[in-house]
Amino acid sequence: MDLYIDTASLDEIKQAAAMGVLDGVTTNPSLIAKEGVDYSKRLAEICEVVPGPVSAEVIATDYEGMLKEGRERAKIASNIVVKLPSTLDGLRACKTLSDEGTRTNLTLCFQPLQALMVAKAGAFLVSPFIGRLDDIGQDGMELIRQIRAVYDNYGYPTKLLAASIRHPLHIVDCALAGADVVTVPFGVIKQMMNHPLTDSGLAKFVADYKKAFGG
Ligand code: E4P
Repeated sequence: MDLYIDTASLDEIKQAAAMGVLDGVTTNPSLIAKEGVDYSKRLAEICEVVPGPVSAEVIATDYEGMLKEGRERAKIASNIVVKLPSTLDGLRACKTLSDEGTRTNLTLCFQPLQALMVAKAGAFLVSPFIGRLDDIGQDGMELIRQIRAVYDNYGYPTKLLAASIRHPLHIVDCALAGADVVTVPFGVIKQMMNHPLTDSGLAKFVADYKKAFGG
């Protein structure tokens, strides 16, 4: 399973990259706005740090506007993946950009038919949002399982990228359900290596060593 970080913070991206297990980055307009930086410049900076796919979202919501912005974003770096909304216009833009050889990530996916349609249009990634479905009392993980089954039934190569991850259990369930990628906030990435028994066990090993051997 590939691990992406879901942030526009260069500091967080550098720290996650230093762990040696980072495969890519997802950003969105809210995440870049939170950083208070120039939109395209930050994307270029991220692409310099991470060689893997870096998702760069368009702001336009109409087909022509998405194409224009998508083509601009694609010029930023060779590892840019143009992020488009899972709408009818986004679907058309996905088809056009994919036919041009630009990789796309279809975001804001909340039901399996959106995933089926974007796979048919050649999407490189599809981003179902688990946490936001959970937030409204629906089962986000069920969507991951449904998309996995649909893609496997027909052999679609579109990668299932589980997004809107809120806690480590989401990642465990995604791995069991066969998600290709998870995109995870930095705080949750750090939690992936946490267990209180690891901490207490380590403290005891160190204490026992010092007691017996000094130092
Ligand atoms: C994915 O690409 C999105 O940036 C992200 O996962 C959304 O997560 P949120 O629901 O926590 O905002």
